[in-house]
Amino acid sequence: MTVVLPQPSVERLPRHIAIIMDGNGRWAKRRHLPRIAGHRKGADAVRRAVEGCLDLGIQYLTLYAFSSENWKRPAEEVDDLMGLLRLYLRQELNDLHRNNVQVRFIGERDRLSKDIVSLINEAETMTAQNTRMGLVIALNYGAHAEITAAAKALARDVAAGNLALDDVTERTFGRYLATDGLPDPDLIIRTSGEQRLSNFLLWQAAYAELVFLDCFWPDFSRSTLDDAVQEFQRRERRYGANNGQ
Ligand code: FPP
Repeated sequence: MTVVLPQPSVERLPRHIAIIMDGNGRWAKRRHLPRIAGHRKGADAVRRAVEGCLDLGIQYLTLYAFSSENWKRPAEEVDDLMGLLRLYLRQELNDLHRNNVQVRFIGERDRLSKDIVSLINEAETMTAQNTRMGLVIALNYGAHAEITAAAKALARDVAAGNLALDDVTERTFGRYLATDGLPDPDLIIRTSGEQRLSNFLLWQAAYAELVFLDCFWPDFSRSTLDDAVQEFQRRERRYGANNGQ
C-alpha cells in the first residue's frame, strides 16, 4: 500500500522562510560524536532545506549560519564552521547558479577571513541576476548590531542633510537594514526545541509566524519542512486586526 503524505497547499505558501538551524551539537552528543560531526550533518541539512524550498516554490530562504555571538565558541569550532561554509560555497555555488538562485549574505564582514569574503563576493556577483529564489545566509549576523548600524547610517544622513527628519518612517528605516529589498519573513522556523529568536531578524520578525520544531537541525528533512509549512498554513495571520471576532 502506498501511503500518500499530506503536502502543503500551494495557495498560501510563505513567501519568505527564515530558519534558526539549532541542535547540531546535541545531535552529535547523543551519538558520542564530536560537535563537528553534527555541523557536517547540518551542512547536509542545509542542502535539503534549499532543495525543499526550491521544490515548494518558496521565494526567499534565510539561514542563520553564524551569529555575532558565535565567536565566543572555542576557536577550533569556529574554524570548523567557517571551513564548512567555505566547502559549501565551493561545492554548491555552480548548482545554485544553475538553479537560478540569487545568493546574498547579511552580517558584518570585517571579522571574516579574506578568502571567505572573496567567496561571498563571488557568490553574490555570480548570482546577482538570478530570479527563482533568494538564498540569504546570515553570517556574523546579529539583529542588535544590524539595527544599531542602521540607526547610525540614518542619523548620519539626517545630519548631512541628505534625509529630512520628517521623512524618517518605518519604511525608510527598513532601507538602512541589511535586508533592504527583501520581504519580511512570513515564517521563522527554529529546530531543536529551543523557543527563542537569539538576536535573529528582530525588526523583520514583527509579524512572522514562529514554528518551533523538536528535531535537531541535522535531522531536518523535506517532511520536516512540509510539516512546518503546513503548521504555518493552519495559522491565522491578523497583523494586529481582529478579523471581526
Ligand atoms: C547550531 O547548533 C548551529 C550553528 C551554530 C551553525 C549552523 C551551521 C551549519 C548548519 C553548518 C554550515 C552552514 C552552512 C550555511 C553551509 P549548535 O552547535 O548551537 O547546537 P547545540 O545547541 O545542540 O549545541
